Amino acid sequence: MSEELPMCSIGEWLQLPVADHGLLRSLAHDQVFTQELLPSASQLALSDAATMQLESYFRELVQERRRSPGDDPVSNWLRTWDELERDREAADEAVYLLALLVFLAAPETTATLLSSMVWLLLEHPRQLGWLRAHQEHIPDAIEEVLRYDSPNHIISRVAPEDCTIGDVRIEQDRMVHLMVGAANHDPAHFADPEIFDIRRKASHLSFSGGIHYCLGAPLARLEASTLLTALLRRMPGLRVSAPPVYAPRVGFRRITELQVVES
Ligand code: HEM
Repeated sequence: MSEELPMCSIGEWLQLPVADHGLLRSLAHDQVFTQELLPSASQLALSDAATMQLESYFRELVQERRRSPGDDPVSNWLRTWDELERDREAADEAVYLLALLVFLAAPETTATLLSSMVWLLLEHPRQLGWLRAHQEHIPDAIEEVLRYDSPNHIISRVAPEDCTIGDVRIEQDRMVHLMVGAANHDPAHFADPEIFDIRRKASHLSFSGGIHYCLGAPLARLEASTLLTALLRRMPGLRVSAPPVYAPRVGFRRITELQVVES
């Protein structure tokens, strides 16, 4: 379920054929290794192969929307770019990159938010019981899940000039990895950061900040609140029957298995 909802949401929005969802989801899983902290050679090879397949899929998608434009985001981006850019190839390239970025950013991260949310709330049954009686706090619970275990742990930047952050000197053109999990557990910013507390009203960095702030944050929050509202109503006896299994990754968290029973 955690993997279905994000794929269906982004797939339906971009109007990607349902028959392609399974393949696209698996390519998104494989592609993510390029953004890992210390990927192995075999992970990079897997990622490169997935990237090539995704590139040709989204290039073809742009050409298909050129041939038969509709009322979908890709067709609308093409219309917008055609007004800005006289070179059609350049416009196609820009729209292809945008469609690929939006697709890659969505399913993996949101699936992790949804499965972490279910795991953390079932692990804290008293808080879950309180939430059932105070459903107006569902958005706070989602923010605390995002803070406590961010789906994405690494945000990278290249220094445009020599600079100093805190007491660390960073030379121009050096890449800096910002560790989101550490920032979200900074005791200078959060009281008792290791305690999961859905009432804390967390202001986290899981969607980044500044001009690159996550474009899909409202969609991810909507998916999480839709799932949580439905689970509270339809599965009151849900509980975990075996601890979650995590993929061995640092940058992008992923729960590969979470066994639950409804009693
Ligand atoms: C829980 C789910 C999600 C998380 C944790 C997440 C996290 C992030 C983060 C950390 C960034 C900033 C990267 C940076 O600063 O370098 C980002 C950017 C972005 N996200 Fe998300 N994201 C999520 C869901 C989504 C969804 C559902 C979409 C698409 C509908 C999306 C689209 C984007 C795009 C297009 C950007 C690039 C924005 C820019 O560079 O201006 N994200 N996301």
